[in-house]
Amino acid sequence: AASLYNTLDGNAPLIVAHRGASGYLPEHTLGGYELALEMGADVIEPDLQMTADGVLVAMHDATLARTTNVEALFAPRNGDYRVSDFTLAEIKSLTVEPTGATASTDYPGFAPTMADPYKVPTFQEVMDLVAAHNAATGAGIGIYPEAKTPNSLAMNRQILEEMKSNGFDGSVPNTFVQTFSHEGARQLAALQTEIGMDNAIAALGYALDLGDGFGVYDATTGSVTALEDLAGFADGLGLYLGYDLDATFIAAAHELGLSVHGWTFRPRTDEAAWEMFLPWIEAGMDGFFTDYAQRGVDVLDRY
Ligand code: G3P
Ligand code: CA
Repeated sequence: AASLYNTLDGNAPLIVAHRGASGYLPEHTLGGYELALEMGADVIEPDLQMTADGVLVAMHDATLARTTNVEALFAPRNGDYRVSDFTLAEIKSLTVEPTGATASTDYPGFAPTMADPYKVPTFQEVMDLVAAHNAATGAGIGIYPEAKTPNSLAMNRQILEEMKSNGFDGSVPNTFVQTFSHEGARQLAALQTEIGMDNAIAALGYALDLGDGFGVYDATTGSVTALEDLAGFADGLGLYLGYDLDATFIAAAHELGLSVHGWTFRPRTDEAAWEMFLPWIEAGMDGFFTDYAQRGVDVLDRY
């Protein structure tokens, strides 16, 4: 039968749990990731930062201030609370707090299984959680780590080596590595070949119409990479949903074998979710990052 979906592979768009279940529970926490898994997300997204002692942790910002209670417990260092100025042990003493308008430390009917669900997790702990879920359920939930910029060669190498040693080496479906730096994405692709692994690489950015073709804005350098060039090192791209992520753009990306993942899907109500989602699903969007995994599941059920 013909597919319902105009995605590159004909499958339903991937529901990427953006920072976990961050619309419901504190972002980038094991409790939040566990809720996203329970809701039926296909992919767990951890943004990654590096601690002073060289440990990758799940954290969106370069500093600890917005999402944790660091200011109550520590004095600033070098004028700020940068992750890179604190050790893992220090960061583990912090609690991650709800930040969004709707996020809470409770979600009705959900009881996290870990003792301390709202600490800053290491990348290793995120992979352990997803791997344990896959082993227990037979599911193939992927991970979508983002090398937050500036991403050094050492950081990119460490991300890939940790993924490989945890079995996220290309054999777990729906696993991507992403970055806003197109140079970083090129480097990740080359490193994968060197290390001997094969996860998909996604370059993030903003879609631009170059007049005679499309390009994707590189937030790190401010340059634009044409879609054809992007296809030389990336397997997919992540685009801001506010721009013209329409059927023409998605068809151009698909023509080059690039999957298209939109971010960030933050509908306020179930009905708004449906209305926002429909044009993108009809246009063939391959996946979407959302703070509200449950709304993603519900719209796909309704489609
Ligand atoms: O990685 C896709 C999307 O998460 C990009 O935005 O700032 O939430 O990492 P940000
Ligand atoms: Ca991200």
